[in-house]
Amino acid sequence: MRIDPWGTDVFDYARLRDDFGIEPFEPLEKEIKDPHYLMRRGIVFGQRGYKIIVDAMNNNSEFVVLTGMMPSGRMHIGHKMVVDQIIWYQERGAEIRIPIADFESYATRHVDLKEAENIAIQEYVVNYLALGLKPKKCRIYFQSKNNRMKDFAFLLAKKINLSEMRAIYGFTGETNISHFWSPIIQVSDILHPQLDGPKPTVVPVGVDQDPHIRLTRDVASRYKDIKLIPPASTYHRFMTGLTGQKMSSSDPQTAIFLTDNEEEVRHKIWDAKTGGRETTEKQRELGGVPEECMIYEMYLYHLVEDDERLRKIYEECIGGSILCGDCKDRAFNLIKEFLNKHKKRRERAKGKVEDYLEYY
Ligand code: TRP
Ligand code: SF4
Repeated sequence: MRIDPWGTDVFDYARLRDDFGIEPFEPLEKEIKDPHYLMRRGIVFGQRGYKIIVDAMNNNSEFVVLTGMMPSGRMHIGHKMVVDQIIWYQERGAEIRIPIADFESYATRHVDLKEAENIAIQEYVVNYLALGLKPKKCRIYFQSKNNRMKDFAFLLAKKINLSEMRAIYGFTGETNISHFWSPIIQVSDILHPQLDGPKPTVVPVGVDQDPHIRLTRDVASRYKDIKLIPPASTYHRFMTGLTGQKMSSSDPQTAIFLTDNEEEVRHKIWDAKTGGRETTEKQRELGGVPEECMIYEMYLYHLVEDDERLRKIYEECIGGSILCGDCKDRAFNLIKEFLNKHKKRRERAKGKVEDYLEYY
């Protein structure tokens, strides 16, 4: 089995842990003061080397959080999860670095750099700021514009050979060399904050990114010219799409976008797959199945931060005291409230983008 970071797989999380040696998150969660709800709920389910980050947080010592996104489509509610985590770390004193993977989207998604720049600013950066990212100790950069990172990529590449790239990514004789090169750029994204001295670094990502993390950790320990601490990582589960399929920017019905209007949201919620029964009577008698419900997933991942309140919703559902129509109305109202606020915050954020960008 191989993880394809550019593919469309649906993941078996238990198997991923066993087959690739991702460690469970839960034992360390207990050592964190006030863990994020995504951590408490097991949505952040795995980690590598995360102990150093827990220690850094508990000792108030320096650490870096670095994670990036490819600017290739619109930003949806599934992407928001990473930003929520970044902000949580920022509140705990972390230094934040966010690469915009324009080289990667050029190499793997055929998005040219100018187009990537527009998508990155409008769809990603403005949303990050609107979600609450602060400029203090926070820098966002484009891969294509960060010369220090690019030069370091060349040096690090000496520690990676062709067979290894083939084994990890399944690259073949047909793979274009920009694509081949993009994971090496990512390795440098993650390690270049340590050019000024070793620093614990954590990369919170979706589990599809694990091949890059493994490669980065290996390169960090092989490279001897400067001291590099192998980066830690955490892995979160992906939200299912509203239709029950994979959530994807290229299939708008599966996702709520951060710039959707009220009507769009109403339709998507209305059409979403639930865990409800065929008839009202059955629902009253047997209750719903929140584990199979995309509306419940919206509560779990985004809409209800308070655990007690979430538990009540769960019990109402399984006890049959609420019907899916009313439950969808409630979800719709929460999303509407969030998006209305977000829209105003986006307007305010638009003037502030330059305060965050580095090498721009
Ligand atoms: N490969 C990531 C994606 O597909 C984007 C990315 C680039 C990244 N550099 C990174 C993620 C560094 C984490 C750390 O979205
Ligand atoms: Fe989902 Fe709500 Fe219906 Fe339960 S009542 S299945 S949570 S929509």
